[in-house]
Amino acid sequence: MKARIAVLPGDGIGPEVTAEAVRALRAVAARFGHDFGFEEAPVGAAAMDAGQEPLPAATLALARECDAILFGAIGALKYADPAARIRPEQAILGLREALGLYANLRPVVPQPALHVASPLKESLLGGVDLLIVRELTGGIYFGRRTREADSATDECRYTAGEIERIARIAFRLAAARRGRVTSVDKANVLETSRLWRETVTRVVREEFPAITLEHQLVDSAAMLLLTRPASFDVLVTENLFGDILSDEAAALAGSLGLMPSASLGDGRRGLYEPIHGSAPDIAGRGIANPYGAIASAALLLRHSLGLETEAAAVERAVAEAIAAGVLTPDIAPRGTDAAPTQAAGDAVVDRLRVS
Ligand code: IPM
Ligand code: MN
Repeated sequence: MKARIAVLPGDGIGPEVTAEAVRALRAVAARFGHDFGFEEAPVGAAAMDAGQEPLPAATLALARECDAILFGAIGALKYADPAARIRPEQAILGLREALGLYANLRPVVPQPALHVASPLKESLLGGVDLLIVRELTGGIYFGRRTREADSATDECRYTAGEIERIARIAFRLAAARRGRVTSVDKANVLETSRLWRETVTRVVREEFPAITLEHQLVDSAAMLLLTRPASFDVLVTENLFGDILSDEAAALAGSLGLMPSASLGDGRRGLYEPIHGSAPDIAGRGIANPYGAIASAALLLRHSLGLETEAAAVERAVAEAIAAGVLTPDIAPRGTDAAPTQAAGDAVVDRLRVS
């Protein structure tokens, strides 16, 4: 298969981890006989440093032309002033909105070899295999904002149509898994959540009668994620709740650095990024965990290119590298030698080379 992949490394550790994801994709191309072309473009603080907007028009144009987008991370301390009008983060929000990527998939599958890296008791982690489906282009992230000297507002708005389409994605994915969906809202307080609950319930009744749907309030869901994580299959929720719960769920896997994501719309084109940020404190030192970025490349193969065998091969290679003890500092047991970023990338590439 021939595919064009836009590579937007961004800031901080973004370039380091994205480079390893590209190497993994090149190894896949070599082993399975595909022709992947990679085209890099600046985004975020990296673009601002070059005197451009956080999301330069040429970068957005490239993203539109390609079959898939591999994204690194965004954000830099020098542009972190909360009062700034232009911020690096606008690039990722702009990409999601412009490309209509309303569905964000964040799988959480703790590796047995890393149970010790999680702050949770090992007895809670067995059998955890959950998927957070986060609505990505609506809600408070994209509502109207106002600011006066000593007051501010952020509007949270959802339409039934926005809720229906994300619910369908969650139900479809659940149908191919264990058939259970937990919809997370705050329907005891928020009007948007009441519309959310009503709409999700209608969609399951009319279109997915075989799915088991339960509703959880977000505060309770946050606790249950830690007290009975194995009971969840698919969680579907609005933008802000999904942002928060997915970082929380990363603790189950042992590190934010392991967590991949796929951002999808109605077509095949998607954006793939690890859920971690730019981690300026460790940037440039070659110690960032690339497994989340590499696992995001696996999602790219699966969702945008339809290459399931290849996606599974990448996921297996990551799991085997971890099981073999090739662990970056964030997941290495205290007192052991941690692997640098490139060594973790090598461990995956080596495993992808063998047939
Ligand atoms: C994420 C990030 C982004 C978000 C930031 C960088 C805007 O935290 O992808 O989870 O809040 O969506
Ligand atoms: Mn986040």
